[in-house]
Amino acid sequence: LKALPSTPAATSYQLVQLPGGTHSLHSLAYGETLHPVVGPVAEAESLYVNQLRLRERLKNYAGEFVIWDVGLGAAANALTVLRAIREIPRAIRLVSFDDTTEPLEFGLQNAAALGYFGGYEKQLETLLRTHQVTFRNGEQSVNWQLHSGDFPTLLAGALEERHSQTVASKWGVAPHIILFDAFSPAKNPDMWTLPLFTNLFRMLDPQRSCVLPTYSRSTLLRVTLLLAGFFVGVGQATGVKAETTIAANTPERVAEPLGRKWLQRARVSGSAEPLHDAVYRQLPLAGATWERLRAHPQFQ
Ligand SMILES: C[S@@+](CC[C@H](N)C(=O)[O-])C[C@H]1O[C@@H](n2cnc3c(N)ncnc32)[C@H](O)[C@@H]1O
Repeated sequence: LKALPSTPAATSYQLVQLPGGTHSLHSLAYGETLHPVVGPVAEAESLYVNQLRLRERLKNYAGEFVIWDVGLGAAANALTVLRAIREIPRAIRLVSFDDTTEPLEFGLQNAAALGYFGGYEKQLETLLRTHQVTFRNGEQSVNWQLHSGDFPTLLAGALEERHSQTVASKWGVAPHIILFDAFSPAKNPDMWTLPLFTNLFRMLDPQRSCVLPTYSRSTLLRVTLLLAGFFVGVGQATGVKAETTIAANTPERVAEPLGRKWLQRARVSGSAEPLHDAVYRQLPLAGATWERLRAHPQFQ
C-alpha cells in the first residue's frame, strides 16, 4: 500500500491508497489498515447493508431501530449504513464505541481523499465535541451517541449496572444489529476474548433478534461466538475474502449455519481455543471446551 501525504495532526494514522484506487486509514500503532483490499464503503456495503438485507429489515420493523457500531474508527461503517437506509422513514438509534477519537478526527481532516463523509461532516463534528447528536437523515430521525473508553470495560460496567438495577442502562435498549469491527485478534486481542463476547451476548434482548456480522472467518472466533451463546454461520464474501462470519441470538437469522463438518474441522484445528484473556495465542480446543462446543443447540 502506498502511504500518501496527509493533513497533519495525525500521530498514529496515515492515509493510504488501496490497490483499487480508493483511500483508507493505516494505523501505525496496530500496523493494520482499516478496510484493506476493497476499501471502506464497499466492505461496509457487502458485510452489513447487502448481507443483512438492511433496507428490507427496516421496512418490516416499525419501532426504533438500534445499531451498535463497535470500533467507530473513522466512521466508514456507520456512514455507509446511514446513507444506505436514509430513504426509509424510521427512528434510528446509533450507538458507537471506541477508545479513541483520533481516527475520526484524522479521517475528517482527510475527508476529500476518503470521499465518504459528504453531507455528514457537521454531525460528526458535533458527535466529536459532545458525544451525542440528533439530526434528520433523509426521511429518518437519527440519535447518534458515542461512548468513549475501553469496550470490554464499558460492557462489564453496563452489565453490573443493569444487574444492580439501580441505574437504567445508559446505552438504552438492546441492539438489532452490531457492526463489529476491531483490529485483528493477533493485534487487538482484548476485543476478541470469550469474556467480551459472553458479556455482549448477555446485553442482548432474547425477544429482539440481533445479528452480528464480522469480517473474520477464523475457527477461533467462530468457537468463541458459539460458546458465548450465539448461533453462528458462514457470512458472505467481501473482496478477496471468500467467507466472513455471521452470528445471531436467534437461529433464523443465520442462513448458512456451521454444521457437523465444520465442528469436526474445529476439533482438529491447531487454532480453535478461544482467548480467555487479552493475550493472543493459537491453541487446539481444550477437552472441556470441546464438550461445551458440541453440546451447543446448533449441533443438536
Ligand atoms: C478497524 S478499526 C474500525 C474501523 C471503523 N469501523 C470504520 O469503519 O472506520 C478498529 C477500531 O477499534 C478501536 N478499538 C480497538 N481496541 C479497542 C478497545 N479496547 N475499546 C474500544 N475500541 C477499541 C480502534 O481504536 C479502532 O478505531
